Amino acid sequence: MTTRRSFLGLLSAPLAVSVAWPRLGNTLAARPASRMPAEFGALRDEAYWRELRTQFTIPTTDAFFNTATLGSSPRAVQEAVLTSLQHIDRDIADWDYKGDSENFFTGYYPEMAYRDQLGTVLNCAGRDVALTQNATFGMNFVANGLDLRPGDEVVVTDQAHPGGRKGYDLRAKRDGIVVRQITVPAPAASPDQLIDLYLAATTSRTRVWAIPHISSSRAIRYPVARLCALARERNIWSVVDGAQSLGHIAVDVQALGCDAFYASPHKWMLGPKGTGLLYVRPDRQEELWATLPSSAWDNETDPMFRLMQYGTGNLSLLIGLGVAADFHNQIGSGRIEQRDVALAEQLRTGLAAIPGTVIVSPTHPDLTCGTTVYGLKNRTGGEIQDYLWSRGRIRVRSMGDPVGVRHACHIYNSPEEVDKALALLGEMAG
Ligand SMILES: Cc1ncc(COP(=O)(O)O)c(C=O)c1O
Repeated sequence: MTTRRSFLGLLSAPLAVSVAWPRLGNTLAARPASRMPAEFGALRDEAYWRELRTQFTIPTTDAFFNTATLGSSPRAVQEAVLTSLQHIDRDIADWDYKGDSENFFTGYYPEMAYRDQLGTVLNCAGRDVALTQNATFGMNFVANGLDLRPGDEVVVTDQAHPGGRKGYDLRAKRDGIVVRQITVPAPAASPDQLIDLYLAATTSRTRVWAIPHISSSRAIRYPVARLCALARERNIWSVVDGAQSLGHIAVDVQALGCDAFYASPHKWMLGPKGTGLLYVRPDRQEELWATLPSSAWDNETDPMFRLMQYGTGNLSLLIGLGVAADFHNQIGSGRIEQRDVALAEQLRTGLAAIPGTVIVSPTHPDLTCGTTVYGLKNRTGGEIQDYLWSRGRIRVRSMGDPVGVRHACHIYNSPEEVDKALALLGEMAG
């Protein structure tokens, strides 16, 4: 059987990242860095993905296509969290609470080691990242932290997830800002169409463009780099909701050129549940006030630490998040994106051959990703969800009617699972 350690070794070839276990004292620090066994080069692609699948604890009888809601962490992440939890509860009396010894909680320290690890995923410095609990925290820290005045405007899409929007709605009710909503056609036709919608909703009072990187309900991949460049020319904050993109498609916040990017690593990055991040471009960090102030709310040397002032938190989750970042980097974000998109292309091609299928997510190649949203004529989303589960233990998520279901392909899925889903959908449609 392949162990966690040997698999990290298998994966370490192209992007060697040493697995760091900060703050665990002697308990785990002795673990060796990843090594690359010779047989790796001989693994063909499908063999690689089959090997990777053994690192997940989802039963092999189940096909899990709902990562867009919540990911399944690999064994390495689960073990790191559990081992740390046990260590903390067992050895808590050892904790002398002196400055340079191991800590047993989070909330009062900059946690730069973990921020650096996330920086390697996002291609930025760790000091430009704040650790949060999820994407919703990140959105709210921007929406609430900006000095917005009555009449200032924010552009949002009608498809924004509540966790990508409601902070602005609160400011509208409380402070009189104006939230301008774009209506995005389904399916969205082209990147230009989306850009035109943002530009048409923009006025001289516009201060923020709230941009989904990939939208939750329709799985549209937005032309984020182009939108951010246009926002910059107009001195508008470009705030990117990365809840559906981080860990799914390659994210490089510097190449995107965004002012802010927030995400939930517990989805596609397969981190522990209840972890999040917020990146803010260095030259704009000072424009944000802290929303939850505690001791370092006004820290001038580490502006993003000001946004991590929410009191005691769970160190074990952070340790697991660091392992998830390593796991992700060892596979490589480009390779993950290619795999997810290839599985989704297989699905979309098969769906197009099933009579009565309506694909609601885009088919324009620049707007697609690993998630597809589709329906079947005369079938509700709930019926499709239940049929796939009861007949094939295939888990997709209903998006309500008349839309259908959201089918998210990720690295633990296989071409065989996609074919099995297509066969059942064909049966249903027939
Ligand atoms: C696009 C988008 N933004 C924000 C969120 C909120 O994420 P969380 O609940 O992890 O804060 C989600 C969750 O599904 C989402 O899909």
